[in-house]
Amino acid sequence: MIPLPLLLSESLNALPDPVILIDGRKTIIFFNRAAATAWPALVSGMPLSFTLRAPDLVEAIDDVLADRTRECEGIFSERHPVERDFSFRLRGFHDEETFSARSAPAALVILRDLTEARRLESMRVDFVANASHELRTPLASLIGFIETLQGPARDDPKVQAYFLSIMREQGRRMARLIDDLLSLSRVEMSEHRRPIDPVDLSSVVQQSVDTLRPVASARSVTLEIKSPDQPFIIPGDRDELLRVVENLVENGIKYGHTGGRVEIDVRPIQGDEPDALALSIRDFGDGIAAEHLPRLTERFYRVDASVSRESGGTGLGLAIVKHIVNRHRGRLVIESEKGRGSVFRAILPRSASSA
Ligand SMILES: Nc1ncnc2c1ncn2[C@@H]1O[C@H](COP(=O)(O)OP(=O)(O)OP(=O)(O)O)[C@@H](O)[C@H]1O
Ligand SMILES: [Mg+2]
Repeated sequence: MIPLPLLLSESLNALPDPVILIDGRKTIIFFNRAAATAWPALVSGMPLSFTLRAPDLVEAIDDVLADRTRECEGIFSERHPVERDFSFRLRGFHDEETFSARSAPAALVILRDLTEARRLESMRVDFVANASHELRTPLASLIGFIETLQGPARDDPKVQAYFLSIMREQGRRMARLIDDLLSLSRVEMSEHRRPIDPVDLSSVVQQSVDTLRPVASARSVTLEIKSPDQPFIIPGDRDELLRVVENLVENGIKYGHTGGRVEIDVRPIQGDEPDALALSIRDFGDGIAAEHLPRLTERFYRVDASVSRESGGTGLGLAIVKHIVNRHRGRLVIESEKGRGSVFRAILPRSASSA
């Protein structure tokens, strides 16, 4: 087999997409680094079909090898070990003089992983469907009430007053949903720009707790700040950080109220992490089953949609929290045990240098 010149192999290795070079017998001559990452089982000198069994790809390779002037394109999916979608392009080499030997390069297979793009596309479709559905429900009930007010309840002031109060609630719900959608898209749009104003996280916690105390006591929940009594400054956006603490504490009150208290804590993180603060909100309620944890921060994901809706939830709170934490170059860790309660912990870097 002819080894590729170093400059050529290094250039192919620098490409982000998988590239595989085969000879006229469909044996692999070379594959770049991206190909090795996508298919760790690839081995030079082995038939390509040992690793890439996609019938459409194999057929296209046969076509190109039979007529080297052809170029082919297509897509294929893999089911194992995980579901992935790829597009491929094939180019045959037909320069007889250079490539006449049996084991000389005969075709180049250029691949592209479409999995992420397809996932994003299906998320976008789901998102529009979910948002429309969330708006349609209160809207349908508003229209229903208006029709009742115009018809059967026309002359009944008592029923009118009752219906109008429900209608106001539905209207507020729609307004809240739109506010949440707007702030989600605002944070998403600015996610690449890290906010850098010095913000004292301790005072953010204090302000959020002051705001939410009435909500907590209405549900017989006490809010306890466990942090050391001192300022903890991070580079950030104060309003966004207030949203994070308020969302998490509000969730602790709404979904963990059976535990009777929510603890809020800010402290420097221990161990070998770079200089960071941990902002933890802990409740002692029913907790969340493990299968829900990875999906909690998805937009509109709710463990129990009716419980969330009853308390005016839109299912966007944690999605907003996650984006804000990402924007601050931090990460969100969720731990929960059924029957014991949950901890939502935002790890936020203190240094502004990793912006
Ligand atoms: N502390 C918690 N304990 C138990 N379940 C929780 C907790 N926090 C969140 N959840 C679950 O995660 C879901 C998503 O939370 P999220 O904050 O995103 O939405 P929401 O509270 O339903 O609505 P919103 O925050 O927009 O008012 C909730 O509906 C609830 O099922
Ligand atoms: Mg919430």
